[in-house]
Amino acid sequence: GHHVSSQRVRFQRRIRACRYDIDQFTPNFLSIFDSLVPSEEEIAKQKQLLAALSRLINKEWPNSKLYLYGSCANSFGFSNSDIDLCLSIDNKEMSKVDIILKLAEILQAGNFQNIQALTRARVPIVKLMDQVTGLSCDICVNNLLAVVNTKLLRDYAQIDRRLRQLAFIVKHWAKSRRVNETYQGTLSSYAYVIMCIHLLQLRRILPCLQEMDATCNVTLDDNQCAYFDHVDKLKNYGAHNKETVSSLLWAFFHYWAYQHDYMQDVISIRTGRIISKHMKDWTRRVGNDRHLICIEDPFETSHDLGRVVDKFSIKILREEFERAANILQYDANPSVTLFEPYMP
Ligand code: GTP
Ligand code: MG
Repeated sequence: GHHVSSQRVRFQRRIRACRYDIDQFTPNFLSIFDSLVPSEEEIAKQKQLLAALSRLINKEWPNSKLYLYGSCANSFGFSNSDIDLCLSIDNKEMSKVDIILKLAEILQAGNFQNIQALTRARVPIVKLMDQVTGLSCDICVNNLLAVVNTKLLRDYAQIDRRLRQLAFIVKHWAKSRRVNETYQGTLSSYAYVIMCIHLLQLRRILPCLQEMDATCNVTLDDNQCAYFDHVDKLKNYGAHNKETVSSLLWAFFHYWAYQHDYMQDVISIRTGRIISKHMKDWTRRVGNDRHLICIEDPFETSHDLGRVVDKFSIKILREEFERAANILQYDANPSVTLFEPYMP
């Protein structure tokens, strides 16, 4: 109706041309990226801890397997982040909670510190600290979808280096501005990376791997996870597009500040397109899912990664997108101002 079309006109008017001198800031943004990347030494420590834990757990459960997932395995992790592990175990006699409790006992006996079994969390986990490597980690059980979506993100990152650069800077902005806190109604790091992949798909810098002939295929909890994973064959995919990370960053924030249609649109990396809320029946609140910003999970397609966002946090989020867009358009020092800590 009238309301929607006048809102569209307002959006259109606010679309600006990218600042002509944006590229001069690329070295600054790239040095921020470099400062956040974990060192080889840290990655070696993560592997060492994974090996130590696998050895210990396999003594009790020889058929289990321990996987790294989340930021330490998807290639979007900062240095000094906690490690996410997933224990895959086929045990018909024990419930998930039983497994978590038993796992806590095994770790206790194996000399790990600060062990906590969080059995009542939405995703039950065991937390621990390792004194040998100084690393902390969370172990969940049989959450293989997370292991597979971790691989999807890592595979996308191999195609064009600009994805990793863009996503690191967006994550760093989100952490500085306190809009990377799901328990406060803002978005997860996983959601931000998906938003970056989507932008690069629309700009033909990344392909849509799930629309190509599948070379890896698993079905987990009724979700089919199939996509083309021979990404070494796609290294030149985005080469025709010469945009720098600064202009992509500008495009990212302008999209979310002024172009995204929050009333009607869902972003979907599964299809590489924008799809409609109407089609997914995401037009109204169902239970706790409010669908105020819609980001489709690539494999659990009924799952909106924006479901945590409520009517208060959507306002905060959109104001932060606008702030970032305006800084990238006008500020004399965008690579500094963008990350100024949020002060309540
Ligand atoms: P940081 O710890 O912030 O650096 O990032 P992270 O990549 O570890 O992200 P996050 O803690 O958001 O998510 C960890 C992993 O959980 C992701 O990589 C996904 O594999 C998985 N995951 C699957 N579904 C969801 C979801 O709805 N929300 C979140 N947060 N994670 C999900
Ligand atoms: Mg994490």
